[in-house]
Amino acid sequence: MDSIVINGGGALHGEIPIAGAKNACLTLMPATLLSDEPLTLTNAPRLSDIRTMTTLLQSLGAEVTSLQHGQVLAMSSHDINNLTADYDIVRKMRASILVLGPMLARHGHAVVSLPGGCAIGARPVDLHLKGLEALGAELELKDGYVHAQAPGGLKGAVVAFPFVSVGATENVLMAATLAKGTTVLKNAAREPEIVDLAQCLRQMGAQIEGEGTNTITVQGVDSLHGATHPVVVDRIELGTYMLAPAIAGGEVECLGGRLDLVAAFVEKLDEAGISVEETPRGLRVARRNGRVRAVDVTTEPFPGFPTDLQAQMMALLCTAEGTSVLEETIFENRFMHAPELMRMGARIDVQGGTASVSGVERLKGAPVMATDLRASVSLILAGLAAEGETVVSRVYHLDRGYEKVEEKLGACGARIERIKDR
Ligand code: UD1
Repeated sequence: MDSIVINGGGALHGEIPIAGAKNACLTLMPATLLSDEPLTLTNAPRLSDIRTMTTLLQSLGAEVTSLQHGQVLAMSSHDINNLTADYDIVRKMRASILVLGPMLARHGHAVVSLPGGCAIGARPVDLHLKGLEALGAELELKDGYVHAQAPGGLKGAVVAFPFVSVGATENVLMAATLAKGTTVLKNAAREPEIVDLAQCLRQMGAQIEGEGTNTITVQGVDSLHGATHPVVVDRIELGTYMLAPAIAGGEVECLGGRLDLVAAFVEKLDEAGISVEETPRGLRVARRNGRVRAVDVTTEPFPGFPTDLQAQMMALLCTAEGTSVLEETIFENRFMHAPELMRMGARIDVQGGTASVSGVERLKGAPVMATDLRASVSLILAGLAAEGETVVSRVYHLDRGYEKVEEKLGACGARIERIKDR
């Protein structure tokens, strides 16, 4: 298993190109199942999660061709010949459940294994299932699989989510595009990835209004056609690399970065004393004077502070002046990076969903272990600022969501390398 070795302490200067969003791409890819005409995605990220979704779609009979070094995904679901998403693929990635709504909507039948994914809490899929049931699907759970049927096709309905779920909103939104009549999604997620999905579906002929607000209205159509769609920029990769100069010192321009995607996060950086400015090519981030200030952070659905940046923000606050309180409201078990950061000298007290971080002047390099995707990158960020060598093992988590981390940070002067099989 690969490790990443960082020799910390140096400031960073340079530019980092931000890739297309993993989480947008993982919902745009299953959208191909809604049509028998080709769907092409540009600006796709090159990640192992995308390869897992490719394998899943191919197992159903879809064609997925990766062009331009993986940045273009040309897909066709003309010849779907299997409506069962197998456990062996689905268990690798929770987002696999997103094939359920589209398959059911177009074929009236689907069997999908219940998913696995990052170990950050229970993460059930009950909201996905209830949403599809509201559209008339008949569901049965058998041997770890969801067996779904809609013999007469799905029918539009009002679907009121009891709380905000990104994945459930995506699954039901896709299914509703081919349902008969009108579907209204209430308490829908407002994430930029949902907006991106709605824009792509609309290009495919879907009739959708209200994406980006908490009420989305869909007028079902008989069929969808082909389209080409660029994947929105990855706001989580963006936020992660914005934290690199904030933690290590220096100045980095994140190419393709957009303020509207990370507004709540930038507000916290500003409070901490980090400067962020818009440039014609993206966002420039700098830490010019001394230590950052402690700030309190509560994770929330978009447009609030994203849970997917909580671990990385904690890495920054480990060396802030004062005590910061981080509250995690989305996932109940998402502080697994805290004990690892403590091995590097951080002072963190976790009580349930709240972590108090008392800033220390300097972290010290140590061997640490990645426990999930965002935790692993938070340890790399911490390593950039730590004195001496940090070795992050189990980086396969990292490769699910970040492409070319060593190259991107290395180009800005970080001393970071990947060691194969250490
Ligand atoms: C997506 C993102 C993930 C991000 C999360 C929250 C993808 C591929 N992943 O995950 O990176 O951290 O949004 O921004 O886009 N829940 C239920 N029942 C359900 C569905 C969710 O109880 O049927 C709970 C979850 O356990 C969690 C909360 O709802 O506590 C929010 O989860 P959700 O927004 O659905 O996250 P994902 O779509 O899985």
